[in-house]
Amino acid sequence: MSAENDPVKLMKQQVGVAAAARVQSGSIVGLGTGSTTAYAIQALGDRLKSGDLKDIKGVPTSFQAIVLARQYGIPLVTLDEIGSIDLAIDGADEVDPQKNLIKGGGAAHTQEKIVDSLAAQFIVVVDGGKLVDRLGSTFLLPVEVIPMAVTPAMRAIAKLGGKPELRMGIKKAGPVVTDQGNLVIDVKFDRIDNPAELEKTLNNIPGVLENGLFVGVADVVLIGEIVDGKPIVREM
Ligand code: 5RP
Repeated sequence: MSAENDPVKLMKQQVGVAAAARVQSGSIVGLGTGSTTAYAIQALGDRLKSGDLKDIKGVPTSFQAIVLARQYGIPLVTLDEIGSIDLAIDGADEVDPQKNLIKGGGAAHTQEKIVDSLAAQFIVVVDGGKLVDRLGSTFLLPVEVIPMAVTPAMRAIAKLGGKPELRMGIKKAGPVVTDQGNLVIDVKFDRIDNPAELEKTLNNIPGVLENGLFVGVADVVLIGEIVDGKPIVREM
């Protein structure tokens, strides 16, 4: 994965590497999903290969994370085999000033929420373009729904004031199917004033498995930025 000459990729790479540098030998690490986390997984693999890091185990949040972990030599474990997760590294689509997030751009938010919530420390890795004053400003809110419930769930979401649309595949005919075999409804809300309440309300709709609001889950947000032409990483 080369980030040369692409400022956004460069920011993602730097922040991914910075998060991987915080992992200590012997840790159990939640491996998030997305292009930023992919750089962190690669950097963890590089540290293992060089001998700088030893004896870590990864808990994947998606097929993508499984594939990357195998590619970079990170041993994997399931939640059935472990008692705790030391640290999780994962990306986000929006981050507000309270460190609340919208996730699910990769349709992986259900497994991500399970793993990220279980981690003793959850480090979010984003480029500066993901920071917003209010959640929902730039990104539609993903909601994973069991296929048979898509139509009634869309109606229920519309009653809450959201504009729902079924996420369609790219280079795949028809809708996006999640790693769990479900569908994703992306929802535009004019304002998300109370993310904690909306998170619960959406998950209460029959057939909804999980939505992409992560409220009070993130501990640390690392932000990749370009300053004076150079990539830097700062902590929120
Ligand atoms: C996947 C996610 C990703 O973490 C989120 O979409 C950010 O991705 P990227 O790092 O590629 O911008 O939530 O479901």
